[in-house]
Amino acid sequence: MTSESARRGEPVSLAAALASFTDLWSPRIVTAVNDYDVRVAKVEGEHVWHVHDHTDEFFLVLEGELTIALRESAGERTVVLPKGSVYTVPRGTEHKPSAPGGAAILLFEPTGTLTVGDRHDEVPAHVDTTTGHDLD
Ligand code: NI
Repeated sequence: MTSESARRGEPVSLAAALASFTDLWSPRIVTAVNDYDVRVAKVEGEHVWHVHDHTDEFFLVLEGELTIALRESAGERTVVLPKGSVYTVPRGTEHKPSAPGGAAILLFEPTGTLTVGDRHDEVPAHVDTTTGHDLD
């Protein structure tokens, strides 16, 4: 599902999209590219450890700073993404995004990709399990 503006062939302002909701860890779909969704999300605190078995996951930090903890074959590490940074979590890599100070992010991933991946730890109440919501 893509936003109504995008469906109508109208530009979508990311600032307006982000201003249209307050939910955390609950992505909104702003447009689609082939079979990929472009989603934006407001985030603060911790997400949940999860893994996408079949797809990479692209992050662009629009505001604030995002940290992503990664469990790789060599061990666990974290990457820090200041505003304006991009990072791709490879498929099959367990990861847990967090943003102690809050952030706004853009995600690019195949339509239907679940926010909590294919496998995950127990999902806390503040994390929305979704394939993305339409903009209002
Ligand atoms: Ni993920």
